[in-house]
Amino acid sequence: MKQHGKRARQEGAIKHTEEKEIEILPLFATPLMQVQLDLDLEKLTEFAHELYENTNIPQPAGDPNTLDFSQSIPGKPWYQRTLQNTKISLSVPGKSSNKGGWQSNHDLNFEKLDISKENHEEFIRLKKEIHQYLQIYHTEVFRGMKFKNNVAQKLTDIWININEKYNYNEWHIHAYATLSGTYYIKHDGSIENGDISFRHPVNQLGVLHWQPDEIEACNTVTSGIVTNRPRSNMLLIFPSWLEHKVEANLKNDYRISLSFNSVVSPII
Ligand SMILES: [Fe+2]
Repeated sequence: MKQHGKRARQEGAIKHTEEKEIEILPLFATPLMQVQLDLDLEKLTEFAHELYENTNIPQPAGDPNTLDFSQSIPGKPWYQRTLQNTKISLSVPGKSSNKGGWQSNHDLNFEKLDISKENHEEFIRLKKEIHQYLQIYHTEVFRGMKFKNNVAQKLTDIWININEKYNYNEWHIHAYATLSGTYYIKHDGSIENGDISFRHPVNQLGVLHWQPDEIEACNTVTSGIVTNRPRSNMLLIFPSWLEHKVEANLKNDYRISLSFNSVVSPII
C-alpha cells in the first residue's frame, strides 16, 4: 500500500494528487447494507401474530440481563445462536417487568421451532428478497475471496421478534454465522420505537485512541457506536461478528422484526 502525497482523503479508495497515486484500503471493514423493501406489511404482521398465537413457547422470564446464552448443546454448536457478552443495565422505567420480548424460534432449552418452512405467501416473498440481498452482499463485499466450491449464502436461522413496551436486546453478536440481518415488519420510524446500534470492533476506541476533548463529531470510521433508525420494510444486513443492540421500545404499541443468520454453503 502506497501512502504518498499530501491530499489523501479517507472517503475514497483511490485519490490522485498532482504527483502520486495513492490507495486507501478499508481494512477489516464491517459494511452495513440497508435497503427499503416494498412487501405487504399488513400480511406480514398477520403472519407474525398467527405464529405468536399458535405457538406455545416458553419465553425467557425475568430480567434479560440474567439470561445465560453462553452454553451450547454438545455436537450442535449452532444452537448457541446468540452470545450475550456485555451486561449493561436498562436505563428506562419498567426494568423489573422486562421479559425480553417474544421470539418465535427457541426456548430456554434452545429447542428450535423452525419457521423457515412456513408457506405464508408474503413470508415466502420476504425470504426470496433476503436471499437476493444476502447474495448481493456476498458478491460485492466478499469479492476476491476464494472458496473451494461454488457457494452462496444460505439461511440457517430465521425468527420473529415481537417487542412490547420496554423490551430490548442487549449488546450481542450472532455466533456460528457469517451474515446476519434484520427486517422490520412494524416500526414507526421514531426513536421511541427503538433504534439499533452497532459497536466498533475496537473496544474503547474513543477513549484509547482519540482525544475526546478534540472531537466535535465522528464519522462511521471513527465512531465507537453508530446508531441506525429503523422503519417498517427496512432490511439490514451486516457481518455476524458485528456487535449490536436494540434500544428499548418506549411506545405502548409493539415492534415486530424478523432476524436471520446465514453461512456460505456449496451450490448443489
Ligand atoms: Fe441480533
